[in-house]
Amino acid sequence: MVTQVVWGRAASIHSEHIPMQYGHFDDENREYVITRPDTPLPWINYLGCQAYFGIISNTAGGYSFYRDARLRRITRYRYNNVPFDFGGRYLYVRDRESGEFWSPSWQPTRHEPESYQCRHGMGYTTIGSRYKGIEASTRYFVPLDETLEVWQFTVTNRRATPALLSVFSSIEFCLWDAQDDATNFQRNFSTGQVEVEDGVIYHKTEYRERRDHFAWFACSAPLAGFDTQRDAFVGPYRSWDKPVAVERGESGNSIAHGWAPIGSHHLKLDLAPGETRQVVFVLGYHENPRDQKFDPPDSQTVNKRTVKPVIAEYLNAANADAAFTRLRDYWESILGICAVETPCEHTNRMVNIWNAYQCMATFNMSRSASFYESGIGRGLGFRDSNQDLLGFVQMVPARARERILDLAATQLATGGAYHQYQPLTKRGNNDIGGNFNDDPHWLIIGVSAYLKETGDWSILDEPVPYDNEPGSEQPLYEHLQRSFRYTLDRLGPHGLPLIGRADWNDCLNLNCFSDTPGQSFQTTTNKEGKTAESVFIAGLFVLAGRELAAIARHRGLADEAAGYLAEVEKMDRVVHEHGWDGEWFVRAYDDFGRKVGSNECAEGKIFIESQGFCVLAGIGLEDGLASKALASVGKHLATEHGIVLQQPAYSRYYIELGEISSYPPGYKENAGIFCHNNPWVIIAETRVGNGDAAYEYYRRINPSAREAISDLHRCEPYVYAQMIAGKDAPTHGEAKNSWLTGTAAWNYYAITQWILGIQPSWDGLRIAPVIPRGWKGFKATRKYRGVTYRITVARAGDGNKVSLMVNGKPIEGEVVAAPAAGQTEVVVEARLS
Ligand code: GLC
Ligand code: GLC
Repeated sequence: MVTQVVWGRAASIHSEHIPMQYGHFDDENREYVITRPDTPLPWINYLGCQAYFGIISNTAGGYSFYRDARLRRITRYRYNNVPFDFGGRYLYVRDRESGEFWSPSWQPTRHEPESYQCRHGMGYTTIGSRYKGIEASTRYFVPLDETLEVWQFTVTNRRATPALLSVFSSIEFCLWDAQDDATNFQRNFSTGQVEVEDGVIYHKTEYRERRDHFAWFACSAPLAGFDTQRDAFVGPYRSWDKPVAVERGESGNSIAHGWAPIGSHHLKLDLAPGETRQVVFVLGYHENPRDQKFDPPDSQTVNKRTVKPVIAEYLNAANADAAFTRLRDYWESILGICAVETPCEHTNRMVNIWNAYQCMATFNMSRSASFYESGIGRGLGFRDSNQDLLGFVQMVPARARERILDLAATQLATGGAYHQYQPLTKRGNNDIGGNFNDDPHWLIIGVSAYLKETGDWSILDEPVPYDNEPGSEQPLYEHLQRSFRYTLDRLGPHGLPLIGRADWNDCLNLNCFSDTPGQSFQTTTNKEGKTAESVFIAGLFVLAGRELAAIARHRGLADEAAGYLAEVEKMDRVVHEHGWDGEWFVRAYDDFGRKVGSNECAEGKIFIESQGFCVLAGIGLEDGLASKALASVGKHLATEHGIVLQQPAYSRYYIELGEISSYPPGYKENAGIFCHNNPWVIIAETRVGNGDAAYEYYRRINPSAREAISDLHRCEPYVYAQMIAGKDAPTHGEAKNSWLTGTAAWNYYAITQWILGIQPSWDGLRIAPVIPRGWKGFKATRKYRGVTYRITVARAGDGNKVSLMVNGKPIEGEVVAAPAAGQTEVVVEARLS
């Protein structure tokens, strides 16, 4: 059954490869079920959603970390490996009579199984297979509020005869700092240390000096042996697919000194025909107080007093099951916050399950750790994390609040912001610095989303420092004021915002002028930056300015609000005058004052960002420019796989444009379908009342709707990828960089708040759907500010005019105000005509 994947040319991907799917959705269990292991790329899932995290592929590849994928990496992972995904949470089953051994997760031994199944669910993954009559599967998950992961291994003998089996576990420890771990070998080959006590393997590299944390790996069954030194287990000149200890059927009981500490248990299980056994493995992270690191205190032995009860608790199968049930319940309640029933199963599935789930991952990870983000490069991005809130804020508002305050604390006194910060230290990243001139406005967008969801106006009075400098604290509200001011202090020759290093498009580097290989396009600035302007930031400024005005009004600052609106109107006029190209919005002005994204350009004549964002901000809605811009998007940028970023693609490197022209045509920002900004156009279409177009664009990049072309799409069909190759690429339709993308939040926001039109607003839940004409209606349940709204939308005509009945009585307008105190359920009937 395991055919190798053939790929390379778009045509061959399509025609030579049947079946087109590698699994199916199980919506009832909220799982994606992968039924063959050789997916075109590793199809991954995240374990953990609070502090302890793991990435796991459909063949058990991946790694774990505590809070920060760079600074607290628990297990080692080698990116860009051969095969692509190799190394992870591997178990081996060995038949002690025949000596044959295999892995129930297919990798690393890649034996052809009689059946195989991987179920990726909400915070857990179960991978299993059957080989020579032995069924074995492992459920991996991270219990809520714990810093550990549980592997529940179940094995059944389906043979007619007894099975005498050995099971070996294996993980490879990372020496904590993943960057150092992958580079500093002269030191690291000598620092590794472990302890083994009662069959529990403790990884304690650097614990003797400045660390007060260690990892541990335990198993519920009595051990026949163990290994902690990689070479002793794997054997020199071998790899994970054929460890010498497994082949031999005997562990080396090795104690690692330096080199590469691993954890491996060996247990023997004798199973009668039909018999099933369960073994629990637990991998955990633990911290000790500085002054209680050792036990006895004057020894070098890890103090295990507080970790032992935790180990004992989770090695107990019943406790592990209970923890799993708690995790299921947690997700059930989170996903119950917004649940919809529309005529489109892809919409339902994404809104009710996977898109919301992905929003949790992007909230937690920002762009740091996936199979395409190594976890060592960047921390949390200022603009990224603010935008991620759009899809997350309803799930755990308290965490959104905390994130907003952390982000705001990395803002600079100028109103600008550190582009990124390290989640563990919460400090701005000096290597990247600031001067991405769109950044500050995203804080206004994030805060406004939080306020509309929660009505928690108190957040605006929270004292927040600038640049984390103690003593510089000012109310959060002042941070917003400075964000807005930042642009007014940085206007260019046309009165448009100066772009700085880049705006949302990190690759449009108009002041960079880099001719040196390896220079960072993002941080190299060779021009003064007094000329290049961004029409995109103008759109963002208009949007953020309107939100800020509404916030000011709410604070009783009517004059201030009017001031913001005056600036917004002024910017709107400037965009009309200098940002309109005749058929669409210009994208920018370069350092020579020439247009970017104009009919005057030889390449890159039209860009998506300024069309989507200007219209979603409301520019040109009244005079028809908005509709014209969107028609141009349809004509020049839309493809069957989504909307490309610009056209025509740059065929060569333009030093005055920067990284955007560094990519071959059709990839990434150079005319790829950069999925993040497709929902801007989707929202823009709803703003001009075109539900058909909005939904159609939504559907084209909806991963579930692309499941049937998995061989072309290649990434997971349950989550968005950052990019789909554009029409200029030979692999048009192929997705890349799945999981960590602003696409998740923006699509969730676009479908729930703009197409389905269930929109938290300052004073209540606004119901303003702009759905396709062909839909008769839909139903939704939305929990909002402690009240459950049961919403039915029915079409009575072709338009988007809304008439509302609340608890059986007609109301004026589109906003359902909060019910009287104590009332927790509200029935809303909306009629569209
Ligand atoms: C990446 C970055 C994001 C940026 C986008 C476009 O997704 O994380 O900040 O806006 O690329 O360049
Ligand atoms: C590169 C990528 C872009 C990303 C940026 C930040 O420029 O093309 O998508 O936003 O790196 O790391």
